[in-house]
Order: sequence, then C-alpha cells, then structure tokens
Amino acid sequence: MPRRRWLVACAGAALLPASLMAANRPEITLRFSHVVAEETPKGLAANRFKVLVEQRSGGRIGVQVFPNAQLYGDADEMQALQLGAVDLVAPSLSKFGRIGLPEFELFDLPFLFDDLSAVRRITLGPLGQRLLQGLQLQRLVGLGYFDNGFKQMSANRPLLKPKDFVGLRMRVQASQVIAAQMRALGARPVTLAFSETRRALATGVVDGTENPVSNFWTQGMDEVQTDLSLTNHGYLGYAVVANQRLWQYLASADRELINQALQEALAFGNQMADTQNDRALAALRQAGTTRVHTLTPAQRERLRQAVQPVHQELEQRIGSNWIQSLHEALAGGSG
Ligand code: LMR
Repeated sequence: MPRRRWLVACAGAALLPASLMAANRPEITLRFSHVVAEETPKGLAANRFKVLVEQRSGGRIGVQVFPNAQLYGDADEMQALQLGAVDLVAPSLSKFGRIGLPEFELFDLPFLFDDLSAVRRITLGPLGQRLLQGLQLQRLVGLGYFDNGFKQMSANRPLLKPKDFVGLRMRVQASQVIAAQMRALGARPVTLAFSETRRALATGVVDGTENPVSNFWTQGMDEVQTDLSLTNHGYLGYAVVANQRLWQYLASADRELINQALQEALAFGNQMADTQNDRALAALRQAGTTRVHTLTPAQRERLRQAVQPVHQELEQRIGSNWIQSLHEALAGGSG
C-alpha cells in the first residue's frame, strides 16, 4: 500500500462542507477509478475534478474517486468501464493496445519526445484527436490527455549502459512497444499490473522496472530497489475515458460542466506532474533508500542507439500511417 502522504491536505482542503453535501444529495454520482496513489499527478487531478464538479453543481453531481486500484486494476478497469461498472478511468496511454487500439503505443516509442512541448504537438493536434475518436469503436469516449512525465529505470544495480540490462526481468505495462524496448536492451519484459509491481520487486519475481519518480516513490519502490537511473527514456501520459452510454445520457449542460471541470483538472494535473516528480526525487534523495544515478550525455546516447531499432520493428503494429502522421506532427506539420 502507498505510504506517502504529501499533498493530502491540499487535495482534500477544497471538499464541499459536509452540511452542503447533506443538503444536496447527488442526483448523479460519477465513479472514477484509477490505479495510482492520491499524491501522484493523476491522483491529484482526479481529486481536483471531484472538487470542481461538486462545487459547480452545488452537490447535485457527485464524484467518487477510487485510487490505488481499490475497485479495479489494470487487468479489468477498461472492461469495467465498458460494462458501466465505473464511469471514468484514466489509464496510461500504454494500456490501450490491449483493447485493440495499438496505435496508442506510439507514445511509448523510446526517446521519441525531447520534452513536453513535443508531446503537446501530438496531444493537442489532429493526431491526438484522431486517436481519441478511435475509442468510439470500443463504446468509449476519450475526453483528454494529461501527463505524468518521463520515465526512469530502476533495479538493484545502476542501469547506465545497455550491458547493465542483460538478463534482468523488467516489469512492464501491457505495451508491446515497451516490451520490445526492454528486449532491445537485453532484458526480459514481464507484463504485470501496476498494483502488483512493488510486491513482485520485493519478492524477486522481477528485478527492475520503469516509471516516473512520483510513481516509484509513492508506491514505496525505493524500499525494494537499490538503484534508480535517471534515463528519461520515455514518456508516461494518460487519457481520461468515459463510458459512452453515460456520456450520451447526461443532459448537455451537465456534460458541459463535467467536461469543463475535467479540462481544468487535467491542466492542474499537468502542472502537478513536474512538481510531484521533482518533489519525489528530492524526497528520495533525502530518504537515501535508493541510490540515484545521473547519466552522462554519452551514456544516454548509447541507450538511445540500443533501443532505436524498436521504432522500425513496431511500425507495423502501430500502423505506418500513424507513424507518418506522428513524424509530420513532431516536425511541426499538422499530423
Ligand atoms: C504503470 O502501470 O506503470 C503506470 O501506468 C501506472 C499509472 O497509471 O501511472
């Protein structure tokens, strides 16, 4: 269980007073399920969404947030959404391939984005919108993107060069691009749900993993990994997805209110992403539980070269047309 408690006061401070809630029992309650801790960018964005919706609707629309895979985990949250057992989820973009949308895995291509402004060229542009529209095929509605940030590699040894990865079992999300990335480094990818990762690291089922520092720290992975290498080799972001039937059932004014609140919460989540990853890194350094390694530009370049073949290898899975649009958008075209 997550044990860190940094911004809980901040996250909870703006909750509606109990009296107001009692006077206005929600007519509609939205259940928002996610797999990470409340003090992560996603946890904070979900809580902000709750506050905004409940305040602006005067308590008429309620939001119940279920963090930490309390209700559903990686293996079943998307299905729960399709069945209407929950109303909103925010899986990482790496988790859409398994529901028949492998084009989302383009976000996982290693060393693809130099910075978050490059990510925005995709998520705010036509390519990002086309990806979200594809969710309709699965009876889902894609409402927007937001960041966690860039991923780092951890294990019980420094991971500074391709040789360091050889033979390691590395936990990955259910993305074939990430699996191929680990294989290109000589490691063995093991797909596991996020909620099982810490225990798998603790018991030696896997040797290492990758994630932004906020996820690493809030899961207490520092207690079970001796080394974190700041590789910044890939991006982790999310899409917020709603059940289509629910979305169509809502009165248009409510849909508008919910969507507006969500967009503001996602912008807040993006601000929090930088802050939480920086804070997590500072806390980790202070705790001294895990050694933190900074790569030299030459070391990072060697890692980049080692995983570069993944781009071509996975082009067919992602779809050549998507890859072409991706490169056009990154080069500054419309994508
Ligand atoms: C993971 O499974 O590693 C992450 O995607 C979890 C998350 O949602 O941030």
